Amino acid sequence: MKRKVTKAIFPVAGLGTRFLPATKSIPKEIMTLVDRPLIQYAIDEARAAGIKEFIFVTSRGKGALEDYFDNAPVLEQELRRKGKDELLELLKNTNMESGAIAYMRQHKALGLGHAVWCARRLLGNEPFAVILPDDVIAAEKPCLQQMVEAYAETGGSMVAAMEVPADKASSYGVLDVKEGHGQLVSVKGMVEKPAPGTAPSNLAVIGRYILSPKIMQNLNQIKSGAGGEIQLTDAIALEIEKGRDVYGFRFNGKRFDCGSKAGFLQATVAFALARDDLKDELSAYLYEIMAQRKAAQ
Ligand code: UTP
Repeated sequence: MKRKVTKAIFPVAGLGTRFLPATKSIPKEIMTLVDRPLIQYAIDEARAAGIKEFIFVTSRGKGALEDYFDNAPVLEQELRRKGKDELLELLKNTNMESGAIAYMRQHKALGLGHAVWCARRLLGNEPFAVILPDDVIAAEKPCLQQMVEAYAETGGSMVAAMEVPADKASSYGVLDVKEGHGQLVSVKGMVEKPAPGTAPSNLAVIGRYILSPKIMQNLNQIKSGAGGEIQLTDAIALEIEKGRDVYGFRFNGKRFDCGSKAGFLQATVAFALARDDLKDELSAYLYEIMAQRKAAQ
């Protein structure tokens, strides 16, 4: 039976070492693209897809992330007093309904699969989404919404997929494709971080998933994989071995790897250039520095 997807897990318990020293005290997910933290993009995408319950798998030092979703009555009062209605509205949109958000602690960063498993008691027997907030996707129709619509037709489990250059495949989970039907491909295997030259395709998994609750049993069964971590990819691959359907979904949109510095900077520029209040000033500056660099060559 295909059910509606109303719960999403946001695994945010990673150490974020690529952004040290910033992540010594700031959770990676609170870092801002222009003026919104990464987590806000993820929450907005989930809401657009019909998600009603938001489960955060957190760890030590993520207090700022929990505070971010609380009401800020003093600030709101001050904005109201000053008649700053637009800012007030903006702020209100970041509040979460009581009871819609749950926090589960991952006591040790044992891997993405382990982080998802930590949320098992909050899920019940329903399919659920997983969103990695450091993958930010700019799209006309938000990526998870595209997937939820496709999932309504397929059931099973589904991962967001994207073509990557062959020499980059070893940084991702990679799909072994059985059959492709345009946006939807059916999958016969998955490998996490394949050794260079061994990737079964150039179709990589990125941070959006809709998963069957049976994945939790698989996470119970598997041992640590690539990098010594409990890998979500391995638990999904086990679904395939057990004869259940797994699909890759080629989403429409542009994905930014905001877990890496270069990706984060590219996203910052792209999102700023998409803003009416910033695009003119920023593009003038970009032209200016590019012209200076050219002249200096
Ligand atoms: P990453 O591989 O980007 O790891 O995790 P990281 O720790 O966040 O960052 P680096 O590599 O040290 O810079 C992908 C996603 O999985 C979560 C992370 O929070 C991130 O959203 N994760 C990873 C966990 O929640 N727990 C883990 O044990 C590992």
